[in-house]
Amino acid sequence: MTGDRPPTIIRRSDEMRQRVRAAQAAGERVGFVPTMGSLHAGHTSLVERAASDCPAVAVSIFVNPIQFGPQEDFDRYPRDLAADCKRLAPHSVRWIYAPDVSEMYPPDHATRVEVAGPAEPFEGQLRPGHFAGVATVVCRLFHCVPADAAYFGAKDWQQTLVVKRMVADLGLPIDVVVCPTVRETDGLALSSRNAYLTAPQRQQATALSTALKQAQSDWQQGHAISDIEHRMAAILEAAAIAVDYATVVAADTLEPLAPSDQTTAAIALIAGRLGETRLIDNLSLPPRTQSPC
Ligand code: PAJ
Repeated sequence: MTGDRPPTIIRRSDEMRQRVRAAQAAGERVGFVPTMGSLHAGHTSLVERAASDCPAVAVSIFVNPIQFGPQEDFDRYPRDLAADCKRLAPHSVRWIYAPDVSEMYPPDHATRVEVAGPAEPFEGQLRPGHFAGVATVVCRLFHCVPADAAYFGAKDWQQTLVVKRMVADLGLPIDVVVCPTVRETDGLALSSRNAYLTAPQRQQATALSTALKQAQSDWQQGHAISDIEHRMAAILEAAAIAVDYATVVAADTLEPLAPSDQTTAAIALIAGRLGETRLIDNLSLPPRTQSPC
């Protein structure tokens, strides 16, 4: 879909809220795509989905300081608003909400949204405070951009569960829509952090999707979960990727699956480090056609 007019860049939350409310009062459904910028085709796939559901679409661009740990890449996270606007130009985006840090977080702010359950394992354990930072900013953004539906990528699967849990627990009046992961032709999931990879690391990084595809095929053939997990880890290690986790769990709860469980929707989740760059990916595992060995 092509945008007819360039999007309006909005910096202030009261103005953003007013515009969304006015569109809704005129009978328009509003879709919202929260991002940290450095936009790529994964982000624009969310925009396309939002535009197919909603006549009015808002995209937020805000590198959220409180979801980065002290040793993480907040300072070097790529920021280029002009390039992001250009990338959004061909799409139907009505507003770009680009607040600065003081607009989102008053100097004396003292509130965090803490989600338990799906926020606890994996990324939650390895990145303390990360999901509180995500839940807090997403909750705040949902108040600044009071849309009817918000669009998130399955690429960050655990994040989608955390957001859904928060929306349900706080009774926020917004639909959460999860959209498929967009990949390069060699399988690497698009990510703003791929820009950090050197050429050899970019080659090595294909091991993430290779490991996931192997897991999917082993799963279909009925292999035991522990064997599937070892094989994923071995593929990553063979590509010199330091493995944070390579696991198969229940897709909706991230809890371990009983070995004989054939009906619960499963997901393979991986995280690994190439030098300073940390990448995550996942793949849904369809119901098994073979019994576990
Ligand atoms: P960011 O990493 O910019 O991602 C914004 C949205 O794009 C997220 O919903 C993410 O899952 C989705 N996305 C990223 N790569 C994708 C891909 N290859 N295919 C499909 N979707 C993809 O996630 C965040 O920002 C932040 O945590 C945020 C939710 C904005 C809160 O600060």
